[in-house]
Amino acid sequence: MAIDYKKEGKIAIFTINRPEALNAMNVQATKELHEVMVDFRDDPNLWVGIITGAGDKAFCAGADIKDTLPFLKENLPQKPWAMPSTPMRGLELWKPLIAAINGLTLGGGLEIALACDIRIASEKARLGLPEVTLGLIPGWGGTQRLPRVIPWCKAAQLIFTGKPIDAQEAYRIGLVNKVVPPEEVMSTAREWAETICQAGPLAVRAAKEAMIRGYEMTLTDGLKLENALEGYVIGTEDFTEGTTAFIEKRKPNYKAK
Ligand code: CAA
Repeated sequence: MAIDYKKEGKIAIFTINRPEALNAMNVQATKELHEVMVDFRDDPNLWVGIITGAGDKAFCAGADIKDTLPFLKENLPQKPWAMPSTPMRGLELWKPLIAAINGLTLGGGLEIALACDIRIASEKARLGLPEVTLGLIPGWGGTQRLPRVIPWCKAAQLIFTGKPIDAQEAYRIGLVNKVVPPEEVMSTAREWAETICQAGPLAVRAAKEAMIRGYEMTLTDGLKLENALEGYVIGTEDFTEGTTAFIEKRKPNYKAK
C-alpha cells in the first residue's frame, strides 16, 4: 500500500509510504489517500488525523513527476477534477488534521501539509514549492492556501523562485507551528492530537467548518454561519456534558453526540 493507515484510539495515522521515491504521490497513492480519508471522515470513533511520511528523509517530495504529472497532462485539460478528492480539494473534512513534517516537504507535499490545520516540523525539514521550475504551478492548493497562511511577499517568494526554506524560517514566517528534533516529530504531533481529543469533538469540527467556510464569506455572512453552528453545538449532548463537567469539577466524557 502506498498509504499506510492506522487507527490508534481516536487518532488516525496516515503514512505516505514510498520512501524510495521520497514519498512522492503517484496516482495510486492519491487514490489510496482519498479512500482512507473518506474512511477517516466517516468513522465516528476517529476524531483527529496525523499525516506523515515514511523514513527519515521526506514527508513528501510532491506529485510523482514520472507518474502523476503525465496522468494530469492527459486528463486535466479535459476533466479538471480528474483526481479523486483529497484533503487538498473536494473533501469536506471538518476533523482536524496535523502534518508531522519529518523531512523534505516539496510541491504537492507542502500542499498536503497546507491542507492540514497544524504543522509540526523536524528541524531538518526543508519546505518549498518548486513547481514553477518544472514549468507548472502549485496545483494542489498551494497558490490559494499559502498566501492565506503566510504574508503575500513570502508566499510569492516561495512560489515564484521555487527555492525551499528551512524549518526555522518556516516557523519564523508562521508556516509551521513548532520545530522539534527529528525523533520528536511524531510524539509531538500525537501530544497535540491527544490534547485536541480532550475537547468536545463536535465543537472542534464545527469550529473548523466555520473557519474554512467563513474564509469565502463576507464578515456578516461568516458571523451568521458561526451563529448557526453555535446553535447546532449548543443542541448536542457533548455541550451539556462539557458544561455539567465544569460545574461538577470533573473531566468531561465526550461522546461525539
Ligand atoms: N516524483 C518522482 N520521483 C521523485 C520525486 C518526485 N516528485 N522526488 C524524488 N523522486 C525520486 C527520484 O527520482 C529518485 O528516484 P531514483 O532513485 O529512482 O532515481 C529518488 O526519489 C530519490 O531522489 P533523489 O535521488 O533526487 O534525491 P536527492 O536527495 O538527490 O534530491 C530532491 C532530493 C532535491 C527533493 C529531488 O529528488 C527533487 O528535486 N525532487 C523533485 C521535487 C519536486 O520538484 N517536487 C514537485 C513535484 S510537482 C508537484 O508537486 C505538482 C503539484 O502541485 C501537485
